[in-house]
Amino acid sequence: MAIQIEVNNNKIKAKKGETILSALQRNGMSVPTLCWIKDLFPTGACRMCVVEVEGAKNLITACSYPVYDGMKIKTHSNRVIKSRKIIIELLLSNHPDDCLYCARNKSCELQSLAEELNIRERKNSGNKNNYHLDLSSVSLIRDTAKCILCGRCVRVCEEIEGVSAIDFISRGNKTIVGTAYEEGLNISSCVNCGQCIMVCPTGALYEKPHYEEIQLNLNNPNKTVIVQYAPAISVSLAEEFGMKTGTNVIGLMNSALRKIGFDIVFDTSFSADLTIMEESAELIQRIGDGGKLPMITSCCPAWIKYAEQFQTDFLENLSTCKSPQQMMGAMIKSFYAETENLKPEDIFSVSIMPCTAKKFEQQRDEMTQKGIADVDAVLTTRELAKLIRLFNIDMDNLEPELADSPLGTRSSAGKLFGTSGGVMEAALRTSYTKITGKEMKKFKIPEVRGHAGRKEAHLKIGAINLGVAVVSGLKEAETLLQEIREGRDDIHFIEVMACPGGCIAGGGQPINSKPKAIKTRMKSLYKIDETESIKVSHRNPSIIEIYQQYLGKPLSAKSHKLLHTTYIKRDNILL
Ligand code: SF4
Ligand code: SF4
Ligand code: FES
Repeated sequence: MAIQIEVNNNKIKAKKGETILSALQRNGMSVPTLCWIKDLFPTGACRMCVVEVEGAKNLITACSYPVYDGMKIKTHSNRVIKSRKIIIELLLSNHPDDCLYCARNKSCELQSLAEELNIRERKNSGNKNNYHLDLSSVSLIRDTAKCILCGRCVRVCEEIEGVSAIDFISRGNKTIVGTAYEEGLNISSCVNCGQCIMVCPTGALYEKPHYEEIQLNLNNPNKTVIVQYAPAISVSLAEEFGMKTGTNVIGLMNSALRKIGFDIVFDTSFSADLTIMEESAELIQRIGDGGKLPMITSCCPAWIKYAEQFQTDFLENLSTCKSPQQMMGAMIKSFYAETENLKPEDIFSVSIMPCTAKKFEQQRDEMTQKGIADVDAVLTTRELAKLIRLFNIDMDNLEPELADSPLGTRSSAGKLFGTSGGVMEAALRTSYTKITGKEMKKFKIPEVRGHAGRKEAHLKIGAINLGVAVVSGLKEAETLLQEIREGRDDIHFIEVMACPGGCIAGGGQPINSKPKAIKTRMKSLYKIDETESIKVSHRNPSIIEIYQQYLGKPLSAKSHKLLHTTYIKRDNILL
């Protein structure tokens, strides 16, 4: 029901029951927030969002207080601004003064708020916190001294990911956010998803950088440096350079990577197609042989670690396919090395991923051949942007270029891997052809598209009735798996991604993006699929050639050796 409220003397429409913040945002206005997270229940902890409401004695938190008809609000009265200033001044009183060296310099909400509120001098001097940096994780760095205790990371880790690797520990002015017993993140249950980085307002959480070792190898004449980039990167990198959200910069990115000095540029969407060839064959085999169902996708390394820790009764349900990053890594150091007469140890293989968990996956023992890692370093989208800036490359003045062949040719189905539901849609397109011998009449499968945390469809493919589910956010996965444990048997194939919305919302993507950025990136991937002609993985000409020349057929002995893996039950000493 629509009601009317008055904000700063403007009459605006609001919905009965919504919060003041929600009404403001829908009407193109806002107030600063620090603890609020979209779509999660507000805690009202930081009080940054306070507003003055006529007739109310105290200032009111806009993120948690509902509107009522006729409500009169001042969002930026002197009293409100003074209150916000005091909060920021207190937060700054013991904050390290190292903005110049901070990973979040220029993307820090605390820094922006200090500027916005015109705080240009230190008003209070508290004792500086002297916490150690937690460098133990292969994916993330925690700098507790910069934590302002907003609690966003704790909530995302628990309520979206269902992991609870971090929490508030100790009491009073000793309170910090950390792991149980304040041990390193590496021995906690953290699955490296990086969603905590995406919500942290300060530099208290950031990815473990790999770009310095890449620079070293780019300058080593004895190394062939090969780079691959994930499907989601080309529709999110533009934001780092002030271009319109969702712009597909794939051609410019190929050009930039060559200008930086990478010898060969491959597109991970090629190995996404390879994943589909293997995964659809595996699904059909499991259905035919009475194998373990539902089969669950294995592209997301955060989901895999989560399953290895918390869903161990489903380990046999996981597809044995390596992720596209690792399939590409294995092909580079086998097929490509053999074709080009290169020794695997003379190749430095870099991947650019929207994901911090890929840094963990890259160093797993299973992802090696004769002790040599298939992927040597992983850059996030943010790190790639830094590298492009370091090399003073002007993205506005580049000529678009194509990726190298043969591992750079893709179908649009492979490109869909960047969004939640994309792996499912691509796998169904190829499975359909393998089962019926025909192509689908319409390739778009609307039931598995969109941003919902859970999507389901029931399809008839030939004589097979196939139930499929797509979940993103590990808490959603946990709920679905519990339903299956309790007897649900109509689902045969599940796609799981840890990040809500899929890789377009990964933990390595640009920070502080526009509110609709994830949906816009998703639309951009669907548009690519709509406009391109090769829409199925099995029609990618390079895929056809590689099976003919090298791999034989999906699930062959060679495919198994290079492209498949196993999983381990992980014990968490802190659980
Ligand atoms: S990376 Fe993911 S699992 Fe690890 S602490 Fe952050 S939100 Fe939790
Ligand atoms: S680490 Fe960041 S997100 Fe977590 S409580 Fe501290 S400031 Fe907030
Ligand atoms: S954002 Fe409203 S209380 Fe923190």
